Amino acid sequence: MERERIRVAVAKGRIFKEVMALMDKRGYTTSIAKKATRELLFDIDNIRILICKPADVPRYVELGAADCGLVGSDCISEANCDIYEPGSLPIGKCKMILACLKNKKISLLPGSDLVVGTKYPNITKKYFAKKKIFPEIVYLNGSVELAPLVGLADAIVDITETGETIKKNNLKIVDIVQEVNCKLVVNKSSQKTLGKEIGSFLSSLLA
Ligand code: PRP
Repeated sequence: MERERIRVAVAKGRIFKEVMALMDKRGYTTSIAKKATRELLFDIDNIRILICKPADVPRYVELGAADCGLVGSDCISEANCDIYEPGSLPIGKCKMILACLKNKKISLLPGSDLVVGTKYPNITKKYFAKKKIFPEIVYLNGSVELAPLVGLADAIVDITETGETIKKNNLKIVDIVQEVNCKLVVNKSSQKTLGKEIGSFLSSLLA
């Protein structure tokens, strides 16, 4: 009997490329992914791939549109969804950092007055609340490093991988907010009905 096809939401961009390379190495027929340019849904052997915006992966999984997902831990923390997180992959490693202009000093003392630009308002609020700081958050969709350069924010909370964007924009890292890597997230009902298939997919990637 043919095994049921599991639906895997994969974060578009860096994680998608790394997941495809990993699947390729593990013997999956990924040629279709290489050919696909704008398709958002396709099958690789017994896996149905949904290509999602990274921030949307936890939601697709929580709502059952995908059985599981592969996405950065940054998006998982930010989304705060009711999903399982049974494992990690050795890909998508980067850091979430607090940064400001190289020639500026920001105070992290309780009660400090700060304006912070970020794509991650929930993580940012939590991070500062622990320090008893309640900054004004400016929500941005991207190019977050621009905000301190033009006076929109005193600091930013964002992801850095190579450190190039920070460097090229005259910023410095003030603190590490969290380490980030790629995780498998699983829908709670799918875990009951397809737990074995999802588990063997994860094991095949980790093999
Ligand atoms: C991410 C992140 C930083 C950049 C860091 O942005 O938000 O801007 O990558 O990478 P680096 O440390 O290797 O330079 P992304 O490229 O995803 O685009 P975005 O700015 O539109 O979010």
